[in-house]
Amino acid sequence: MCGIVGCTTTERADRYLLPALQALEYRGYDSVGVAIATTDGTVTTVRSINRIGDLTAQLEARTGARLSGTGIGHTRWATHGDVTEANAHPHQDCDGLVSVVHNGIIENADVLRAELIAEGHRFSSGVDSEVICHLIEQSLVGASDSGLQGAIESCVRRLEGSWAILVMETSTGRLFATTHRAPLLVASSDNGHFVASDVTAIAPWITAFRVMSDGDLVELGSPLRWIAGGVEVAPPEALGLSWSSSFLSLAADDPDFMGREIAEQPETVERILSELAPRVSTGDLWRELGLPHFRRVAVLGCGTSLNAGRIIAHAFGAFGAIVNTAVTASEAGAVVLDAETLVIAASQSGETADVLRALDELQTGRGRVLALTNSMHSTLARRADGVLNCSAGPEIGVAATKTFVAQVVTGVCLALSAMVARGTILRAQADAIVDDLRRTPDRLENAIAVSRQWVPDIVESVRDAQGFLFLGRGAGVVYAAEGALKLKELTYRWAEHYPAGELKHGPLALVEEGTPVVVIESADGRLSANVAEVRSRGGRVISIGGPGSSIPVVDGHPEAFARSGRVSQGRGGNTFAACGPLESVVPMQILARELAIALGRDVDKPRNLAKSVTVE
Ligand code: F6R
Repeated sequence: MCGIVGCTTTERADRYLLPALQALEYRGYDSVGVAIATTDGTVTTVRSINRIGDLTAQLEARTGARLSGTGIGHTRWATHGDVTEANAHPHQDCDGLVSVVHNGIIENADVLRAELIAEGHRFSSGVDSEVICHLIEQSLVGASDSGLQGAIESCVRRLEGSWAILVMETSTGRLFATTHRAPLLVASSDNGHFVASDVTAIAPWITAFRVMSDGDLVELGSPLRWIAGGVEVAPPEALGLSWSSSFLSLAADDPDFMGREIAEQPETVERILSELAPRVSTGDLWRELGLPHFRRVAVLGCGTSLNAGRIIAHAFGAFGAIVNTAVTASEAGAVVLDAETLVIAASQSGETADVLRALDELQTGRGRVLALTNSMHSTLARRADGVLNCSAGPEIGVAATKTFVAQVVTGVCLALSAMVARGTILRAQADAIVDDLRRTPDRLENAIAVSRQWVPDIVESVRDAQGFLFLGRGAGVVYAAEGALKLKELTYRWAEHYPAGELKHGPLALVEEGTPVVVIESADGRLSANVAEVRSRGGRVISIGGPGSSIPVVDGHPEAFARSGRVSQGRGGNTFAACGPLESVVPMQILARELAIALGRDVDKPRNLAKSVTVE
């Protein structure tokens, strides 16, 4: 799950590659590197296990190099091989004929490496990607020299796994891109041609881009050549950028991306609802997707998207008594679904390998996979039968915040619309639920204001705690899970979540004097006994709910918290949750972020993680 970028530009390539790599760092930040063709037919390569500033310094030191506008770059999240400079990309073959960057995994790398070594190739790294350089070299110098294009084509025929590859030839500066099960986009502008794993990398210089499909080969030359199945074809349709590239940099008053993205949640939900709400209670949101009738729903995802998926699955049950399940994508192989199950794949990036593999593994009916994603040009979006954009705008912080809230609200709107379309819910009932959802931005705004007031003191009091518990009941359990996940990934402290009733069945043994226990209140009173159990063992209870709680995110009577997102169904006076206590996630995001900052962590780039997890 690395990020790659390449360009053939009018100005020196490093002026584009370095900022592009900065924008791609969310895909991995174990090491970075660039290779830039020089005007005298050589190549300048710099690599570092530090951050991008190190590359700038190294390039400045190479005063003799006359850098051209052609180059490739890579930011790495280590899969094969340690985090060392030797393992950083770009890699080269023995004689330096080509430089290569690769995102993905070459599954048969060990076999290829052994074969190439037996034929005399010397490897200088431990990474799977290096076999690509040597395979290309083998063709370039072999008896059937078919030029760089032919060498790349014969190389990829030998590969198994997934790859987005950029190849730059040293002597000519020719630059090719090819892909198989990994994202690559190509764009052209007055500045030149660009290719990148993600449009965020090149957004400042382009207004539209084209998505490469599996097997495509593109030469970024004059003219740009698009090759599919060995023959030159017309490039695919260009897609416009739907957001401003100002999203990609911090304004003077933004503390960090995560802080800004937490603050953006109310307006994100406002925007989503103004787009979706008119089509929810008519059923059109569902109908426009053109998906077949279904009897059951399975929402699959990983991490935060899985948590959002649990709320969405629950909404199908609550609105229409639809049998529903949430599937951990990496465990989908063990799941049996019938042909009438609608599979909703939730993934903000749309590139998560576990999710894509799960779609291969799940035996489901034709035309029944719906992608819920923040990236409409992602691999997931292209593989699904229908796509619903969660429209959060670019999220740069590695920890998901606004995409979580966006997925929940979009998914709940979908569930509601589907139930109206099938006649399970009357339009007037759906209108009432939508009216309630429309109060979500205010609730989130209030939660942000209250959390900013109350969380700093709490952070001081839990700064030295090594472990945290998060408890909830009902839909609150999912939010407890999300709170624990945020705390772990940002602060590197242990955090576990439990349904509050489970506490006494084991986890209570963890509670000692001062153990922080975050409790998402519910109105049914059933949590009070669990809270008392914690307090009587000296635990430090941090409650999230109405007045009197540690972080009172709900105005008025505590009942309001449990009611938030709940509306009367009108059947026997029952009520059910739409999103559950969605605003409870805000204080937990803020607690995790502020504790992480107090502990000196990098909140936008937590260690060992990446935003787009393209390995299983
Ligand atoms: C946590 C986080 C991860 C992702 C997970 C799935 O803050 O960001 O748990 O939610 O890696 O990613 P997507 O949504 O891109 O499939």
